[in-house]
Amino acid sequence: MKIQKFRKRIGLIGFGCVGQGLYDVVEANRHLGWEIGSICVKDKDKPRSLPASSFTYNVQEVLQDASLDIIAELISDPAEALGIIRQALQQGRTVVSANKKVISENLPELIQLQQRYGGVLLYEASVCGSIPVLRTLEAYYGSEPLVEVRGILNGSSNYILSKLHAERGSYHSALRQAQELGFAEADPALDVEGGDALHKLCILAAHAYGVLVHPEDVLHFGIQHISPEAIELADVLKCRIKLVGSLKAVAHGQVVLQVIPTFIPAGDALYDVEAEFNGLEVEARFAGKQFLKGRGAGSHPTGSAVWADVAAAVRGYRYTYPKLCTNQATVTAGDTGLTILLQGEPEQIAKFLEQVPSEALFQSQDQSQVILSLSPQQLGQHAAFLKQQGVFVAAIPANVSLDKIPERLKAEEILPVETL
Ligand SMILES: NC(=O)c1ccc[n+]([C@@H]2O[C@H](COP(=O)([O-])OP(=O)(O)OC[C@H]3O[C@@H](n4cnc5c(N)ncnc54)[C@H](OP(=O)(O)O)[C@@H]3O)[C@@H](O)[C@H]2O)c1
Repeated sequence: MKIQKFRKRIGLIGFGCVGQGLYDVVEANRHLGWEIGSICVKDKDKPRSLPASSFTYNVQEVLQDASLDIIAELISDPAEALGIIRQALQQGRTVVSANKKVISENLPELIQLQQRYGGVLLYEASVCGSIPVLRTLEAYYGSEPLVEVRGILNGSSNYILSKLHAERGSYHSALRQAQELGFAEADPALDVEGGDALHKLCILAAHAYGVLVHPEDVLHFGIQHISPEAIELADVLKCRIKLVGSLKAVAHGQVVLQVIPTFIPAGDALYDVEAEFNGLEVEARFAGKQFLKGRGAGSHPTGSAVWADVAAAVRGYRYTYPKLCTNQATVTAGDTGLTILLQGEPEQIAKFLEQVPSEALFQSQDQSQVILSLSPQQLGQHAAFLKQQGVFVAAIPANVSLDKIPERLKAEEILPVETL
């Protein structure tokens, strides 16, 4: 009997940070029978690490090439990426992607296209880079109810926050360093305003709870308005501020989703996730807590996650969305009160306090900082106002004791006023 040699060809669309990373991983595995059959890019004048003859500039040449076994969509243009994924799925093809914005905003349609035309879409690299979070949620936790899933989902903002805690510099210089090291984009808005973490959270929601939610409908805040005073306050409370995305099961099959800077106390699994790393804690009803940590971005870590999808797909792996088929959880804002720190211009905080009937737990004399208890509805209703006015918003969880605040602040004069 003649055994046919394994030979699989990948069509690569996009040859930037992740595309080059995938290329390197595939080249290192050539002896296993893999090859990049075709590479599509956009800019004809860009200097490349491969000869010009290696590239096409016409995406249809890749999409129409029947000799390719799998399409890797790794481009930076979301609208174009959606068109490519749609077309590939309509052809019943197997496509892998790392594009969290496209996937989170279009997941219902992308699931339907797979069901209708029999194609396959995998996107492990879109959430937490190299960490196998989606495969873990699907394959391992597919039938166990989850209590909570929360994590540090954005490496750029985590790098900035780590820098602020370690060096006490300004937000803008920490952002500049993140950009110089390639951890943040030239336009960092999606990272620092919480949008990137939000996209990942919505993808996690589908796999962890069977919830299909559009990012626009989820409460989210970023770190762009953080001040040195917030970092100092976190130090006093023996916490680090982290941008946390969380999914929490509450009563009646409902799930609360949010992305918000959060005071994380020492001892919490997320406390030690530093710099560009990501971390995800999964709490299952029977298995208890488990924690995954690793590189959330970067050329080779992300390329490796795409490669894992490529290799799994040719072995017949596909997402079955087990919670979507069984649970059908719904999204709620929740009704548990939140302890929230607001920091910003005193006039803006005063305006907020006028609009929102609530009792401040602590308040600086100049009203630039206030800690108060708010309902999720109150926070959601005024989120746009707080963001517009440049107010930094952070959650202080119940396991962070506020008892120490007034004494310690007075004693150490950490905040600009004598009393909180
Ligand atoms: N960077 C990371 O660490 C990371 C991590 C997780 C997920 N992702 C996701 O992975 C995807 C790729 O990100 P990246 O960082 O690799 O981006 P990138 O470095 O900016 O590279 C983007 C690539 O896409 C190509 N491209 C853009 N528009 C195109 C079009 N219309 N047709 C053909 N090619 C086009 C560009 O072509 P030219 O070379 O000609 O400009 C470039 O090669 C994005 O969805 C991103 O969100 C990135």
